[in-house]
Amino acid sequence: MTRSRRRQVIVRGQCLPELAITVPVDSTSSVMKIINKRSVPLERKQRLSRSLLWQFQRNYFERQGIGAWSAGVVPHHITSSPFIADAYARVVFGFLRDCETAAHREDPSFPPLDLSQAIHIVELGSGPGRFAYLFLKKFLAYQRDSVLKDIPVKYVMTDFTEQNVEYWRAHAWLQPLIEAGLLDFARFDVEHDQKLKLIHSRDILSAKKLRNPLIVISNYLFDSIPQDAFFAHDGHLFETLVSLSTPQKESDPGDPEILSRVELSYDHNPVNGNYYGDAKWNRILLDYKHRLSGTAFLFPTGALQCIRNLRRLSNGRMLLLSGDRGYSSDAALLEGKGAPTMAVHGSVSMMVDYQIIGEYCRLRGGEVLHPAHRSESLNISAFLFGKTPGSFVETRQAYAETIEKFGPDDFFTLKEGIAQVVEALSLEQLIAFLRLSCWDYKRFWECLPALKKHLEDISDIQKQELHEAILKVWDSYLPIGEENDLAFQLGTLLLEINYYEEALKLLQQSVDLYGMAPGTAYNLSVCYYSLGQTEKALEYVNQALELDPEFDAAKALRVELRSAVPATALKQRRRRRASIGSRRGQYQSSVEAAEQADSANGINSPRTTRASRANITRKKKRGRHELNK
Ligand SMILES: C[S@@+](CC[C@H](N)C(=O)[O-])C[C@H]1O[C@@H](n2cnc3c(N)ncnc32)[C@H](O)[C@@H]1O
Repeated sequence: MTRSRRRQVIVRGQCLPELAITVPVDSTSSVMKIINKRSVPLERKQRLSRSLLWQFQRNYFERQGIGAWSAGVVPHHITSSPFIADAYARVVFGFLRDCETAAHREDPSFPPLDLSQAIHIVELGSGPGRFAYLFLKKFLAYQRDSVLKDIPVKYVMTDFTEQNVEYWRAHAWLQPLIEAGLLDFARFDVEHDQKLKLIHSRDILSAKKLRNPLIVISNYLFDSIPQDAFFAHDGHLFETLVSLSTPQKESDPGDPEILSRVELSYDHNPVNGNYYGDAKWNRILLDYKHRLSGTAFLFPTGALQCIRNLRRLSNGRMLLLSGDRGYSSDAALLEGKGAPTMAVHGSVSMMVDYQIIGEYCRLRGGEVLHPAHRSESLNISAFLFGKTPGSFVETRQAYAETIEKFGPDDFFTLKEGIAQVVEALSLEQLIAFLRLSCWDYKRFWECLPALKKHLEDISDIQKQELHEAILKVWDSYLPIGEENDLAFQLGTLLLEINYYEEALKLLQQSVDLYGMAPGTAYNLSVCYYSLGQTEKALEYVNQALELDPEFDAAKALRVELRSAVPATALKQRRRRRASIGSRRGQYQSSVEAAEQADSANGINSPRTTRASRANITRKKKRGRHELNK
């Protein structure tokens, strides 16, 4: 849904045509309010890139840490999905092939790779860290099976907040990657820093030290850092100045909630002469001024500054892959996408003009890949610096295949439609959709009710396929302490299709991450019972009843278990129990069990609040270093 707000813009007695502000409205974002007369002013007529708004934004990320994502406040699913991780891994792999080919041709303009040093893939503003984990899994799989397998690669997750960096460092699932020297971390502020100090290896990435090209990834970052706003009209350029206020006196300027209260208004001021200290930025500004009359646009100063610094650091050999709410064509600007509107979703974001970033890169001798079609939610562009003899043919092909032909933005547009008809899909269609998503756990949640409906009438072959799908969804997941207990749901589904050993592993993961709950203990008991391990089954059903003495299904199961015949008759019982497990009515799905337990006793179900960093780090202390299990 979009809403248009139009108002007159008066500049020195001239009456400019109406400035159309097109405001996207959806459930996750609200739009900044226009200033209200009784509000308390915070600043007046400030250049947007220097506004207090950006300090509030930094305060937000600094104070919230991982909570910004685990509580589901800051949107991140499209940029943390296995689909985008796969697409980026293939583009980066293409770039590596280009570097390798150039090295073989001994072209002096592109020095050979120095294999005594890693090629660094630096992710800016890594936030929840899910992208890094999924990217590395995909990328390493591609590299392992290729002629490039001996090229050393290191991924560097960065953010300006210490809290985020410390969270990733302590995450048990990232430990094997750190220990293998494939992953490192750095605090890096894209607005100010010129080099990176890696925390584990203690290496410094600077222009002096880097021998290989640099690969940089940034998602949902350029739309979260400072920009300027302008309005071009009839050969004149006007800067858009912002005034901020809030409805109440703010006693704590670091309060992360300020962003949700702040109100803003705009004024326009004519620009004469050079606006920026950088001649290339001024050239782009001038071009827009003459080319786009009657148009508002944003100028991504933070992004340009960051690219300028990183290009220097990379000695002019760099691939930057970047995705944001943004656009890369005049058509989008003429539609009103360049208006200085902000979406509030815990933090704030503004659209990014990738056309300007592209123009800047071209002026610096780089090459640019933009999607040829309009993006619905995420514009992904690639910027290449440093000439190769083949002109980055492999990178271009990979971009064309993974972003242009059908990319993350297309997938997310399509999945909105599929969500409407998911109940009508066959089991094969649901699994095909999960496969297309690269086994995205969010898509799994959306498909779960429909998947469960098919359990009533499922063949052995379908069970086998569903079992494989479930394991792949788990393999494409990194927990960050969110409320929903994925391991529990996947484990329960495996139990329901009689994959007891695998169900046990996932239910144990649920216990590791969220602690024991009556439903989990009950399902563990059913698993052991179905495997013929009556004593273990009794142990877990007792735990279920300790946690919830009124748990009827558990009481019944305990009676049955106590009468179970040990040793000699075990084989026979095992056979019988296999049929018990296959009839769903014989045990509650743990979801129902947990829900009953919840409502009867107020006990936390596996799907409630005990997800925690504590559990993740506890695993690490026990020395469990498996990649994802
Ligand atoms: C909207 S989040 C995006 C996180 C993640 N890349 C994603 O796609 O979900 C913006 C991230 O950039 C970080 N960030 C904001 N300003 C930054 C700056 N000046 N330098 C480095 N990181 C910054 C924030 O801490 C946050 O992690």
